[in-house]
Amino acid sequence: MHSMTSQDNNTPHTLHVAIIMDGNGRWAKKRFLPRTAGHKKGADAVRRCIEGAVELGVTHLTLFGFSSENWKRPQDEVNDLMGLLRYYLKNEVIRLHKENISVRFIGERNKLSDDIIQDIEASEKLTAQNTALQLTIALSYGGRAEIVNAARDLAYDVQAGLIAPQDINENSFANRLFTKGMPDPDLLIRTSGEQRISNFLLWQLAYTEFVFLDVLWPDFEKKHLETSLKELSSRDRRYGMISDC
Ligand code: IPE
Ligand code: IPE
Ligand code: MG
Repeated sequence: MHSMTSQDNNTPHTLHVAIIMDGNGRWAKKRFLPRTAGHKKGADAVRRCIEGAVELGVTHLTLFGFSSENWKRPQDEVNDLMGLLRYYLKNEVIRLHKENISVRFIGERNKLSDDIIQDIEASEKLTAQNTALQLTIALSYGGRAEIVNAARDLAYDVQAGLIAPQDINENSFANRLFTKGMPDPDLLIRTSGEQRISNFLLWQLAYTEFVFLDVLWPDFEKKHLETSLKELSSRDRRYGMISDC
């Protein structure tokens, strides 16, 4: 499986899987349950996914939990999702820490409520040195907003005379994204049958392999991760070059 990333021998092996966890609402609807019931079940699937990722040798797992656009959902649903998030931060993070998993959050933090921001910061601090898996949770995250923020940061730095316009390059740009220092995803999985990015990691997915699964997120199991990784290993990642044969 090691051949599936595009790294030379000097960089440590990484395997980054990003997931758009979609289909909670439809899972609930099929059962005549409120959408929240789907989100609750979705949280169980997150646990299975993390366990599977560690077992299968994934080094970085990035989960799309809540998009910038999800704020436009009915207030009740947003409140329920924030409630679940609070519960998760209070309970699950301790477990992640015991499992040597580091957790970080990407997205527009200032849009979240103060108590959530505090818990997020505490979780990041608590787990920062952990090495079994780097788990990144995207909350209030939008790829376009992230890119615009990076551009604005660079503009300020130019204005302040810290850098010259000709020094702006892909590296200096990537260093101003939330994902600074992280490898780009090798694999993007989207569940629920939808085949779109929905504003996730627009910059980072440039050469990522996509797998779309016809499974609703609450039904996601380790076997789905396993088959997706197998699919990834069968892909010929050319990065614009030609295959070596
Ligand atoms: C994904 O499930 C979870 C979030 C976006 C928070 P959805 O809530 O989008 O479920 P569907 O797409 O309506 O089935
Ligand atoms: C993307 O799913 C966001 C998350 C999974 C958190 P959505 O359900 O919000 O995306 P669309 O609306 O179907 O594109
Ligand atoms: Mg959806």
